[in-house]
Amino acid sequence: MNDESRAKTWLITGASSGLGRAMTEQLLERGDRIAATVQREDTLADLQQRYRENLSVTRLDLADTASVRASVEEAFAHWERIDVVVSNAAYGLVGAAEELTDAQIERQIAVNLTGTIQFIRAVLPRLRRQGGGRVVQVSSEGGQVVYPAFSLYHGHQVGHRRLRGERGEGSGALRHRLPHR
Ligand SMILES: NC(=O)c1ccc[n+]([C@@H]2O[C@H](COP(=O)([O-])OP(=O)(O)OC[C@H]3O[C@@H](n4cnc5c(N)ncnc54)[C@H](OP(=O)(O)O)[C@@H]3O)[C@@H](O)[C@H]2O)c1
Repeated sequence: MNDESRAKTWLITGASSGLGRAMTEQLLERGDRIAATVQREDTLADLQQRYRENLSVTRLDLADTASVRASVEEAFAHWERIDVVVSNAAYGLVGAAEELTDAQIERQIAVNLTGTIQFIRAVLPRLRRQGGGRVVQVSSEGGQVVYPAFSLYHGHQVGHRRLRGERGEGSGALRHRLPHR
């Protein structure tokens, strides 16, 4: 268990399931504080009941830039400082490119790529204002290797890699350190 002075505050997107939820649970368990974002309401009700003041939950739809900004605003307003921002939310899309509908393609790019860019753009000024912080972008081997029927997912992963300025073989989650002012 962390003592209060060593506890960190995290902002984690996509905390309702999978990796985001697992991180949220484990960090709360060790005494850290979490600003979690979810799309579906009440998915963290059990954790909210258990950890009460150490967990704040906001709604976020990465496809909606206004929702991205509002959610980041709410998280930073709730916590005095956020030490680590984990950009984790995304979803997979399976299907050959010519078989997918226009709407499926547009949503995949809007959520996984544009939404991620807008989320990071929204958090960076706040991290600078507080004097620093870390951004962890959860990524996938899908930016480096190719599977059949995953071309749209691979497309956004390559976008992530270029966004990070990554050149060689990178790790799944790349950490950026902001210069302190
Ligand atoms: N699973 C894998 O094999 C794998 C492998 C490599 C990398 N990854 C990466 O790991 C990360 C987490 O994946 P996972 O497997 O844990 O996924 P997951 O269980 O499906 O969880 C995805 C999370 O993203 C959220 N999300 C989806 N669409 C969203 C939107 N439009 N706006 C906001 N949030 C949205 C979901 O929210 P709701 O549930 O509330 O809709 C959910 O909390 C992703 O970035 C993924 O690319 C996964």
